Amino acid sequence: MAQLIDGKAVANALDEKTKAQVDEMIEAGMVRPGLTVILVGEDGASQVYVRRKIKACQKVGISSSEHRLPADTSQADLLALIEKLNNDPTVHGILCQVPLPAHIDTRLVLRSISPDKDVDGFHPVNVGRLSTGTGGIVPCTPLGVMILLQSVIDDFKGKDAVVIGKSNIVGKPVANLLLDAECTVTVTHIYTQGLPDICRKADIIVAAAGAPRLVKGDWVKPGAVIIDVGITRVLDEATGKEQLLGDVDFDNCQHAGAITPVPGGVGPMTIACLMANTVQAAKALQARPATADDLYEDAPDRSMFA
Ligand code: GUN
Repeated sequence: MAQLIDGKAVANALDEKTKAQVDEMIEAGMVRPGLTVILVGEDGASQVYVRRKIKACQKVGISSSEHRLPADTSQADLLALIEKLNNDPTVHGILCQVPLPAHIDTRLVLRSISPDKDVDGFHPVNVGRLSTGTGGIVPCTPLGVMILLQSVIDDFKGKDAVVIGKSNIVGKPVANLLLDAECTVTVTHIYTQGLPDICRKADIIVAAAGAPRLVKGDWVKPGAVIIDVGITRVLDEATGKEQLLGDVDFDNCQHAGAITPVPGGVGPMTIACLMANTVQAAKALQARPATADDLYEDAPDRSMFA
């Protein structure tokens, strides 16, 4: 049987570390890390996510605030709020929940968040910092993937890693992080030819295609480590119940060295990484003035990976 990588346990351990860092900051006389979440409109799923994020803040000692705005909020009013939060020294992380209503330009709004408070890691400045290996804030799911990998792999140098999916929020950042860790990285996508053979050579497979059970047992080398980022809701015809399916045929991949389940693998990591990112931002903002554009130019503090 493959070793099960328990996302809940790894997330809890990360939360403990984050809480300890918050306690250290308070003892050192620093301002308590603060996260502000903006929710525009009444989207049900978004309301659930936002509630979870606020609850996570309470767990690790991050102060949180919420701005719930009506669905007809103008783009100008939303941008004005973000500008105010960018200049508020008690706010270290700003997260604007997406999707936003159709009349709002999501890209523009996400780019208006100060890169130094962009705890989602979506701002092009943070994307650039990540792709040039100069630190910055790493998007939460890719960060979670790396921490899960680090829970079972000591030395990444020279390992063959395959990333399935080239999205901006998972595939590309994961590929950059694996490159930083000195892996040989192949990024594949829907038009990639010979995906099964590419996977068969891999020491690490990160599946983020959103294609249920894409990765078959005979694509996986014995001992490989598999992180399944996919999570697709499907109706089980036999029972009539909804099921959550990953991108990997979990049952037939038990010859892997280690594998994440779906659910209970990557999912729990995402909010724990948001908390870690908020503390990283709070430390960086208090270590140097927020005006400096080079806040993350130095070697990044990747201690949370350890
Ligand atoms: N909506 C669903 N997931 C996310 C996320 O990670 N960040 C933001 N900003 N919105 C989301």
